[in-house]
Amino acid sequence: MQPVEEVKSSAIDHINLFKDIVGESAVFVDEESLNKYAHDETENLHFPPDIVIKPRTAVEISAIMKLCNQHRIPVTPRGAGTGLSGGALPHLGGVLLSTERMNSILEIDERNLQVTTEPGVITEVLQDAVKEKGLFYPPDPSSRGSCFIGGNIAENSGGPKAVKYGVVKDYVLNLEVVLPNGEIIWTGANVLKNSTGYNLTQLIVGSEGTLGIVTKIVLRLLPFPKYDLLMLVPFNSLEKAGEAVSAIFRAGFTPSAMELVEIDALKIVSRFVDSTVVPVTDEMEAHLIIEVDGNHLETLMSEMEAISELLLQYDCGDVFFADDAQQKAELWKLRRRVAEAVKIDGYTIEEDTVVPRAELPALIKGVKTLGKQYDFEVVCYGHAGDGNLHVRIKKPGSIFSLNNPDVIPALKALFELVKSLGGTISGEHGIGLIQKEYMDIVFDDASLQLMKGIKKVFDPNNILNSGKIFDC
Ligand code: LAC
Ligand code: ZN
Repeated sequence: MQPVEEVKSSAIDHINLFKDIVGESAVFVDEESLNKYAHDETENLHFPPDIVIKPRTAVEISAIMKLCNQHRIPVTPRGAGTGLSGGALPHLGGVLLSTERMNSILEIDERNLQVTTEPGVITEVLQDAVKEKGLFYPPDPSSRGSCFIGGNIAENSGGPKAVKYGVVKDYVLNLEVVLPNGEIIWTGANVLKNSTGYNLTQLIVGSEGTLGIVTKIVLRLLPFPKYDLLMLVPFNSLEKAGEAVSAIFRAGFTPSAMELVEIDALKIVSRFVDSTVVPVTDEMEAHLIIEVDGNHLETLMSEMEAISELLLQYDCGDVFFADDAQQKAELWKLRRRVAEAVKIDGYTIEEDTVVPRAELPALIKGVKTLGKQYDFEVVCYGHAGDGNLHVRIKKPGSIFSLNNPDVIPALKALFELVKSLGGTISGEHGIGLIQKEYMDIVFDDASLQLMKGIKKVFDPNNILNSGKIFDC
C-alpha cells in the first residue's frame, strides 16, 4: 500500500489534477454551479461544495477517488438532486461528484429480461426505453420524471407501485461500484438467485452513497402488464381510510397502487395542477387512489367492483373511476406533485414514516395529536398500502429541522410513536443528513456500531459522503 498523506488539503489545491482526469470542461468552480449543487429537495438547506466535478466513466471516478482519499478531501456523490433527506448535500464542502454525464442505457437484454444502465439515466427514461420492448421496471418514485436511477439505488427508493412490485432492492441484480480508495468492483452476478458469499449488492443498495459510487447497474425486468384500472375514493374520515387499506389486502386483493392523500394536501396540489376532470370532494377528510393491473381486463374490472363494494363499509363517498388515459394521467399528476405543492405551501419539513400496514390508522391519529401538542400543522399522504406515510409539517418560524431545537422534540416524539407501532423512521427517502439525529430511536448501540464498522471497512478515511446516516 502507498503511504497516505496525513495532511488535509482543500479540493481547490488539486484543481489541475482533477482537470487532468476529467478534462477542463467537466470541472466547475463558478458561483452559479456551486450554488446549484448546494441544495437538493431537502427542506431549504444550502451547503456549497468547493468544486463540482462531472466525470464520464468509472475509470475517471476511480482516479478522482484515489486523489481525494490520498488528500482526505470530502466527496459527495450526487444524482439528480431530488432527494428528501439531504443525502446529496455537500455539507463538508469538498468535491461534489455529479453522475449526470453518465447517462447511457448500455444494454436491454430481452432474452434474460434485464437492463444494464449507467447511474445518470432518468428513471422514467429507463422505464420508457424498456417499455418499448414490452418490459417493465416498476419502481416509480414520484420524481421519476427527473430523478436518476443511481439516486434510486442509493436511497432504495419505492413509489406507488412498490405495494405490488416491491422497491428498488427487489430489482437490482449486480452493481459496478467505485470504492472510496478508487478500486472498481462488481458486487455480484447477473443472475436471479445468488447465495454466494455476503450480499454486497444489497449492502450498496440504500447505503446513500456512503460506501461507494455506483457506476453501472444491472436490473431485472418484468413483462409489462397489459391493462390497469384506476379509481379515486373519498372518505369521511382519515382514520377510516386507513382502516380500509388493510381490509382490502385482508380480503385477498393486491392492488398495484394504494395511495392515501389527506384532503388538505389534495386541495393544495389541485391549485398547482390545473385539474379539470378529477373531482376533489372537499368535505371529505381523505382520498385513496387505488390501481389494479394485469393482463385480463375482465378480472381487473370485477376486482375493482369488489374493492369499491368493500369500501362502502368504511364510510366512503362516490367512487370516481378514471375512464381513459388522460384521466388516469391527470389523477397521477395530482398525486405525484403533492410533495412539491405542499412544500411551496409552507409544509417544508418532511418525514418518511413507515409502520406495519394495519397500524396506519393509529399512526395517523397519533400524528394529528402530536401536531396539537407541539403546535404544528400537518398533512399526511403516501403509500398507504405499504404503511408508508409521508408526514409534512408546517411550523411558522421553523422552516427546517436540521439542528433546530424548536422542531427536534416534536420529531423525536413522532419517531418514538412510529417505533412504538413497530415501524421505522424512513420507508424510502433515506436518513441522509436530516434524520441521523434519530437513528438511536430505532437502533440499539450494537447495531449502530456494526454499521459504523462496515463504513470503516469500505472507507477508513471517512471521505465518501461523510456524516450521512450517522457520524463516525
Ligand atoms: C412521494 C414522494 C415524496 O411519495 O416520496 O410523493
Ligand atoms: Zn413517496
